[in-house]
Amino acid sequence: MSIAVVILAAGMGTRIKSDLSKVLHRLCGRPMLAYVVDAARELTGARPLVVVGHHAELVRQTLGDAAESVVQEPQLGTGHAVMQAQTVLEGKADTVLVLYGDTPFITVETLRAMLDHHAREQATATLLTFRPPDPLRLGRIIRDDAGHVRAIVEFKEATPDQLAIREVNSGILCFRADWLWSHLASLPVKHGEQYLTDLVEMAVAEGGAVAALESDADEVMGIDDRARLAWAEAKMRARINEQLMLSGVTMIDPATTYVEASVTIGVDTVIQPNTHLRGKTVIGRECSIGPNTIICDSTLGDRCKVQASVFEGATLEGDVDVGPFAHLRKGTYLCRHVHIGNFGEVKNSRLGPGAKMGHFSYLGDADVGADVNISCGVITCNYDGVNKHKTVIGEGAFIGSDTMLVAPVNIGKGAKTGAGSVVTHDVPDGAVAYGVPARVRKVE
Ligand code: UD1
Repeated sequence: MSIAVVILAAGMGTRIKSDLSKVLHRLCGRPMLAYVVDAARELTGARPLVVVGHHAELVRQTLGDAAESVVQEPQLGTGHAVMQAQTVLEGKADTVLVLYGDTPFITVETLRAMLDHHAREQATATLLTFRPPDPLRLGRIIRDDAGHVRAIVEFKEATPDQLAIREVNSGILCFRADWLWSHLASLPVKHGEQYLTDLVEMAVAEGGAVAALESDADEVMGIDDRARLAWAEAKMRARINEQLMLSGVTMIDPATTYVEASVTIGVDTVIQPNTHLRGKTVIGRECSIGPNTIICDSTLGDRCKVQASVFEGATLEGDVDVGPFAHLRKGTYLCRHVHIGNFGEVKNSRLGPGAKMGHFSYLGDADVGADVNISCGVITCNYDGVNKHKTVIGEGAFIGSDTMLVAPVNIGKGAKTGAGSVVTHDVPDGAVAYGVPARVRKVE
């Protein structure tokens, strides 16, 4: 069986009450649509076709190369949405599977079971149904006395008896392709829309088989409003955390561990409570991260230890320890055995192997050599109000407490500055400088 997948994502998503398209709302750092696209790709090995409309350009940009797209403008219902796919997909596959962009928990196993059932039953159409606690505005499944599906009745058209039916349409359907393409155009218009679901009654009227498979509500029910979005976030987080734990990561308290889908973590790393790992973050093996830590778009080698700190765009080699209360900003590069203690901030700077910055310091636009000691309260004065300037500190230098390094400035290898110095000129290798402004007093 060859399968073409259409993902409907053009609707407004009015119930989420947002200026952003519903399918772009994020779950664990990824737009919910991305999870559906992944499932479709895993199922068929090909890029699905996404029907976009509301915020079409943004949705397309977000999809990138992961999927193809067609525009539905204006949005006149789910049947009308699938019509937009006809010119692209007709003749390309013998089965068309329709998914919704707001069902991020749909699994490939469920889709395979549905397609197998469709083939076994030689059905014209097969649908996934479910029984939610409250069927609300969902399409009700009408079955005859023998249990065969006769129709899907939309909420707006349903009689009180039909509204009492608990089995509803998930929206996930598959069709015999030639039948679908030859019948779409004859869908009636109701309330200004063409309902894809009306095809079920049309197939039954022609004597075609319509099959149905009941599935788990948590898996197939759309994420429609913010309350459901929060529920979905928690469910996705639990899923990510479980996968990480099963792969060898220890989480002291998974309920307060927030790891985005894009993050990777090595074996035997321990994540302490209230830790947030985001974006393109990679964490090595045997690290200890947290508690109370936020790490975004950063790479950490093996055996790093981080407590109560915030990183954005930092790179740490192995055996680095940071915190508590450190802020590593974009362009920070810490070599092996670097130690950053409490209340340190580093930006766009490299610290060589074994360098130490224990307390209350700021390094910006600095290149710090191996085994340098940055004492308490050292500041690189890197900004003159207009431009940023560089500070270079040579290997083995000792920067005394409260030293102000007024950039651009170079401190030589093995040089020392006295406590409270304001260094406005270069200090040669091995020299000792102190005072305000600092003068070179001796060269060792
Ligand atoms: C639809 C089904 C209903 C089912 C429910 C499950 C129809 C007529 N009704 O309801 O039986 O129980 O889904 O959630 O199919 N979309 C477009 N273009 C449009 C309209 C919608 O692409 O013109 C997309 C939306 O972006 C969304 C999906 O189709 O991904 C479903 O739309 P939505 O408005 O949420 O569902 P209903 O039509 O109310």
